[in-house]
Amino acid sequence: MSMRIILDTDTGVDDALAILLAMRSPELTVEAITAVSGNVHVDHCVRNILMTLELLELESIPAVARGEDGPLASAVTLADNVHADDGLGGVSKLLLADGQPRYSAPQNRLSPTHAVDLILEIIERHPGEITLIAVGPLTNVARAVINNPFRMQKLKQLIVMGGAFQVYGNVSPVAEFNIFADPHAAQVVCGAGIPMVFVPLDVTMQAVLSAPDIDLYAQQGGKVARFVKDCTDHYVDFHRQRRNVDGCFIHDALAVAVAFQPELVTMVDAKINVETAGDLTSGMTVADLRPAFMPDEGPNGKVCTQVKADTFISLFNERVLK
Ligand code: BDR
Ligand code: CA
Repeated sequence: MSMRIILDTDTGVDDALAILLAMRSPELTVEAITAVSGNVHVDHCVRNILMTLELLELESIPAVARGEDGPLASAVTLADNVHADDGLGGVSKLLLADGQPRYSAPQNRLSPTHAVDLILEIIERHPGEITLIAVGPLTNVARAVINNPFRMQKLKQLIVMGGAFQVYGNVSPVAEFNIFADPHAAQVVCGAGIPMVFVPLDVTMQAVLSAPDIDLYAQQGGKVARFVKDCTDHYVDFHRQRRNVDGCFIHDALAVAVAFQPELVTMVDAKINVETAGDLTSGMTVADLRPAFMPDEGPNGKVCTQVKADTFISLFNERVLK
């Protein structure tokens, strides 16, 4: 039986790639895709989700719902320098030879239900069966915990793309973007009693989708591979200039892959907390990963520490780019 998932996303470039991987993975049944502000404002995220789904020309699409438009308590932080103003590397501005947009405005409709309510409704329908994969700031997830903590404990598991445990952060020396953008939400979630797996920068920055591979598959002419090329051009430039790799990290796609192929990663038990108060350390994920240093109250989740990067990238190329 396939695994029922909800994907909660602040749809920037790697989020769109995560959606493509999820929709092309027969191991998964995507019950809903929910949007949250993060890389770009939630309204852009909604449009990007619908646009990405339309590429796949599916007979029916999962419910798509708009969620929270800003963090619980902190100031808004966007990552539009990395993902461009539209969140998808500027694809909304690309034109065909006849002057028409290469990617037209999506036709599919948004669910009338708020993302937080939809998450809670789906868990009620399938208690103990839903894997929630959160690849943006944790604002929607925290709101769902605040509104109905008992229902959220009926999740099968929560997979979080976020955190930097034994490596530097990507927005500050100690903080990763998704956690930094709403540290209070992340700390609410860490205390919620939900089985959690963190897929942090420690593993996502080990796997590079290579620019030559993106170009090669795009030249073969497939619509999805062409879209991947168009939406990653700006993102790859950022990685060349700031991350010293010829390609890009596809953080959020790894979180999706871990849902159905956990053997891609090594995980360790951890008691995870998030710094919400520090002037210099806000959004830091704090955990001692040494087994002998586990606090008496025990773990509240697992942290991925290593990844079979080549296996993951081959899986992504096979399912999305070919
Ligand atoms: C995370 O931050 C976002 O910019 C990406 O989409 C990813 O979810 C990586 O730090
Ligand atoms: Ca994301």
